[in-house]
Amino acid sequence: MKILGIETSCDETSAAVVSDTLEILSSIVLSQDEIHAPYGGVVPELASRQHIESITYVVEECLRRARVSLQEMDAYAVTQGPGLIGSLLVGLSFAKGLAYCYEKPLIPVDHLEAHVHSAFIENRDIPFPVLALLVSGGHTSVFLLKEKMSFQLIGKTRDDAAGEALDKIAKFLDLGYPGGPIIESLAAKGDPKKFKFAIPHMTDGSMDFSFSGLKTAALRHIKERGISKDHPQANDFLASFQNGIIRALLSNMSKAIQAFSPRSLILCGGVARNNALRKNFLKLTRTHNLPGFIPSPEFCTDNAVMVAALALEKIKGGKQEPLNLALNAYPRKLL
Ligand code: KG4
Ligand code: ZN
Repeated sequence: MKILGIETSCDETSAAVVSDTLEILSSIVLSQDEIHAPYGGVVPELASRQHIESITYVVEECLRRARVSLQEMDAYAVTQGPGLIGSLLVGLSFAKGLAYCYEKPLIPVDHLEAHVHSAFIENRDIPFPVLALLVSGGHTSVFLLKEKMSFQLIGKTRDDAAGEALDKIAKFLDLGYPGGPIIESLAAKGDPKKFKFAIPHMTDGSMDFSFSGLKTAALRHIKERGISKDHPQANDFLASFQNGIIRALLSNMSKAIQAFSPRSLILCGGVARNNALRKNFLKLTRTHNLPGFIPSPEFCTDNAVMVAALALEKIKGGKQEPLNLALNAYPRKLL
């Protein structure tokens, strides 16, 4: 069996072909970073237009590299949401067309579930229950998985996502886009203890996150100390800000571990590429004496392998429905 996965939820046009043993026959991620960089963030209209221009090429090239044809696919998998609606519609419509033409199943996939499931691509034996921390540009959430394919949302951000906060501060300091990796490389040269950042705590005992306070504190430091990208303390400032975000993420995770007593932990999503976060997350797993799983960097940021991998799991679990051409994209998580 072979599955073609398609991912267009934000600013990456991605396609992948995987086998029923989850062998990756090919995977392509075409980034739109250059298109959005001049604006310091993703421009939704430009993103969807670029997906339209790229999707045929990306899928054709992906099939060519896998040495398979469209007809040979046993199912088409696609991200249905959440994400940018125009971008999602390009991938979803394309996949619907393929499924209709070749009379094969269409497997819609939730983007957040695909991110969490990405940890299973390289690790088949993750002990349940699992607590998964998903940190991306659009979402920051904790999921409890009592068993495979059961995704229970137990906490989410009430304002900005962690990646969004990094991207916004990078934009404010004119560092470039996407901000997360740029801040990571500059922060590596700075002192994370130089600037004080208080960690937000929810007073209602919930597992929700909030990053707007950290962002406001960052803007106050920038104003008070006159921080610019050429300021001698710029790297210290960025290291301290990144560290504040990491502490906020992991202190919530500690709370969730106490509350749910999981048997393993997952870190996933685009921000999980960050080495300081990876290191501190693994430290947390050791403190709690739990195994920790973080996907390789290429499976952290948006990619179609995780889409195909989740679809494969759905097929194995018998969760296949007849082709529904009325299937619509959704911009936000349906709860
Ligand atoms: O998961 P993803 O590719 O897209 C969404 O679903 O949002 O995540 C993109 C986010 C961006 O905010 C980007 O700045 C951040 O991931 N990111 C990083 C790193 N690489 C990507 N943040 C911190 N350090 C990195 N190395
Ligand atoms: Zn994502």
